[in-house]
Amino acid sequence: MHKLAIVGGRPLAGDVRISGAKNACLPILAACLLADDEVTVGNVPHLRDITTTIELLGRMGVEVTVHEDMRVAVDPRPIREYSAPYDLVKTMRASILVLGPLVGRHGRADVSLPGGCAIGARPVDLHVAGLRAMGADVEIVDGYIRVRAKRLRGAHIVLDKVTVTGTENLMMAACLADGETVIENAAREPEVEDLAGFLNAMGARVAGAGTNRIIVQGVTRLHGAHYDVQPDRIETGTFLVAGAITGGRVRARRTAPQYLEAVLAKLRAAGATVTTGPDWVELDMGGRRPVAVDISTDPYPGFPTDMQAQFMALNCIADGVATITENIFENRFMHALELQRLGANIRIEGPTAVVVGVPRLRAAPVMATDLRASASLVLAALAAEGETIVDRIYHIDRGYECLEEKLRGLGADIRRLA
Ligand code: UD1
Repeated sequence: MHKLAIVGGRPLAGDVRISGAKNACLPILAACLLADDEVTVGNVPHLRDITTTIELLGRMGVEVTVHEDMRVAVDPRPIREYSAPYDLVKTMRASILVLGPLVGRHGRADVSLPGGCAIGARPVDLHVAGLRAMGADVEIVDGYIRVRAKRLRGAHIVLDKVTVTGTENLMMAACLADGETVIENAAREPEVEDLAGFLNAMGARVAGAGTNRIIVQGVTRLHGAHYDVQPDRIETGTFLVAGAITGGRVRARRTAPQYLEAVLAKLRAAGATVTTGPDWVELDMGGRRPVAVDISTDPYPGFPTDMQAQFMALNCIADGVATITENIFENRFMHALELQRLGANIRIEGPTAVVVGVPRLRAAPVMATDLRASASLVLAALAAEGETIVDRIYHIDRGYECLEEKLRGLGADIRRLA
């Protein structure tokens, strides 16, 4: 099993090129199922979750060709299976994203229930309730969500809770439905907007994405298209924290600073000088120790839960005491225990972690528990004295493209152990 060995203490300096956004690319690849012609998607990040999605499409009979330049061509026409089996869904919860397109285009889907996962219960009841409101017949049989429908019909759906993949699934299902669908209390995440951009490029009529009210006018077919995935705001934020935690200067290129406002505000509050251009962000910490910053996660445009663990790492070595409140997922503090192994002072009180900054962390063996938790361990290791070994880094490969090459490019001492 692969591990990372990181010798901390070097201020990072330089430029890093940001990859396509995993959480935009996953629904976009699933949405290809709606088309009746070949679709090509560009700026696809080379990640384990993307490979899993491609395998999932392949098992359905869909033809997928991966080109050298991170373009992926998807021909959905040869589809012959309408299911997402447990062995794939259990490795990637986002497999649930094929549900909406399969039902919308083919009137049937058998998708394994994702089950519990490392960051809390994560139910899919809102996805199911929305499809039912559109006239689908949904049963849970043998651990599978089994959906059957003739043509879905437009509906007025009010989501009980803001859900990103729930909004995406219903938006995709609505594209080929009969009539108008309104999704209220929709997720406003930039990835939802990117998906809407792709759906419209295929001929869909989606309006309001990026607001909490999305309106979809059903059409009878979606055609082929080419679309480039937006840059990854979470990867961007993670590299900026890497700069901040090492007292360095990092410029993230080919990114979208407008999607990072909550994160950049917190980096400035931590004492960093942050400047932005049309497609870049630069963070300069000037060798200073970060100042503690309170964090409270919320749906977009609030502070993203996917950056919570990284900011916990930053607060571990900050000057002062910070409270970190996780409002989206229960049980998303597993990284706190591992950070404590590096000498951090963290106390968990229900949904809040109280982090008392210490002047320095010391290397220790640590274990990654989920994708963003593993990023926080890498960040802490970059600031720690000595060589930290991070185990179970397959979690990192799910969501960060070439993490160690990119960090090495910024001057980090990091290597992968087989
Ligand atoms: C997506 C992101 C993930 C991010 C999360 C929150 C993808 C592939 N993943 O996950 O990286 O951390 O948004 O920004 O885009 N909920 C229900 N019932 C449902 C659906 C959700 O109760 O049917 C709850 C969840 O348990 C959670 C909250 O709603 O408490 C938000 O979850 P949701 O936005 O659905 O997260 P994901 O879409 O799974």
